[in-house]
Amino acid sequence: MMNQDHHTPILSGFMLGNHRVTTPVILSPMAGVTNWPFRVLCEDYGPDGLYVAEMITARALVAGNPKAFRLTRFAPSEKFRSLQLYGVNPAIVQQAAAMIVDGNLADHLDLNFGCPVPKVTRRGGGSALPWKTDLLQDIIHRVVAVCQPAGIPVTAKIRTGIDDDHSTMREAATIIEGEGCACVTLHARTTAQYYGGHSDWSKIAELKQLVSIPVIGNGDIWSAEDALAMVEQTGCDGVAVGRGCQGRPWLFADLKNAFAGSCQRVSPSLGQVCQVIMRHARLLVDFYDGDETMAVHDLRKHIAWYLKGFPVGGHTRAAFMSCQNLADLQRQLDALDPQIPFPDALSDKPRGRTRYAKKVHLPYGWLDSRRLNNQERQSLYESDVEDASY
Ligand SMILES: Cc1cc2nc3c(=O)[nH]c(=O)nc-3n(C[C@H](O)[C@H](O)[C@H](O)COP(=O)(O)O)c2cc1C
Repeated sequence: MMNQDHHTPILSGFMLGNHRVTTPVILSPMAGVTNWPFRVLCEDYGPDGLYVAEMITARALVAGNPKAFRLTRFAPSEKFRSLQLYGVNPAIVQQAAAMIVDGNLADHLDLNFGCPVPKVTRRGGGSALPWKTDLLQDIIHRVVAVCQPAGIPVTAKIRTGIDDDHSTMREAATIIEGEGCACVTLHARTTAQYYGGHSDWSKIAELKQLVSIPVIGNGDIWSAEDALAMVEQTGCDGVAVGRGCQGRPWLFADLKNAFAGSCQRVSPSLGQVCQVIMRHARLLVDFYDGDETMAVHDLRKHIAWYLKGFPVGGHTRAAFMSCQNLADLQRQLDALDPQIPFPDALSDKPRGRTRYAKKVHLPYGWLDSRRLNNQERQSLYESDVEDASY
């Protein structure tokens, strides 16, 4: 433990429109993970960061899909409400943005141009989209036009490119800045890299030199020390953390401490982790309107992450996967030894998805031109999906 008194902040935050993000840390949107129960846990550990909801498909929102609307909900404790939209049809994305503004559903809107999932890129969406600079500009222009009068800052999240021969980040960031976005987040991988290997932080440094809006660096932050290293190596204005906080919401306390210049870190015992799991489960029950089965099913992946590295046998882990309600869950948690210390050796190691793409899927002829032709426009807009989950 260190003396907490006199620390010099390493980085004091960045502006998102008129809103100051005091701790320059973003919970990176993760489909199926960053719903409000998880965000609340993270924000409790690290207040003053930015906690972004998982992506919502614009078409689903416009179609009034109840699952999409569930994802727009926030907990009362979430004072700054941050949503992310995905879509390829500019008119639909604009309509979804207008619904968000008119319904006062968010205080910040992020646009997803980074998803690498085949079902998305094969339709020209996510990380495939910035290749078509006119389409990218059209979407951003329309969304900013809807959000700006309401004082809602718009941001965009991109990858470096499609593969090593088809970089997109420079043109994309120039458009993002030119169209009035408040900041840009760069996941420093190509679509082809998917989640494999290490992200190329030099690309974040390159982007920082190119644009004047805040640049948020993203990729492979597994510990507070990684976050400090990214800022030092790239000059980025903040960091976005995805997989590193899976099963470790307390990472946001470490990040807050690190940026405030403190080396205090959180290292919970298994008993303390069990308390977090139970709290997470109760919040999920609220999220699913009292449905305990849905809550404990959603929790399964989180439990695997929470228990990662602890000496808990396969039999016990399997028993968690068959829990059907909170009582089952409590019984399993009670059977664990609360005294077991946190496996610190694992705390800065990769977790979650870590593989390369087998192949990048794109619409036919996509790479032939940086602009959309009429035929592409027609087939793309028609196939804009309602379900574009990761
Ligand atoms: C399960 C999963 C779901 C994700 N969902 C989204 C999403 O909805 N929107 C988005 O922009 N990025 C999404 N991402 C990407 C992350 O936000 C982040 O950019 C990526 O994981 C790299 O950061 P990391 O190395 O800190 O994990 C997802 C990643 C994972 C692993």
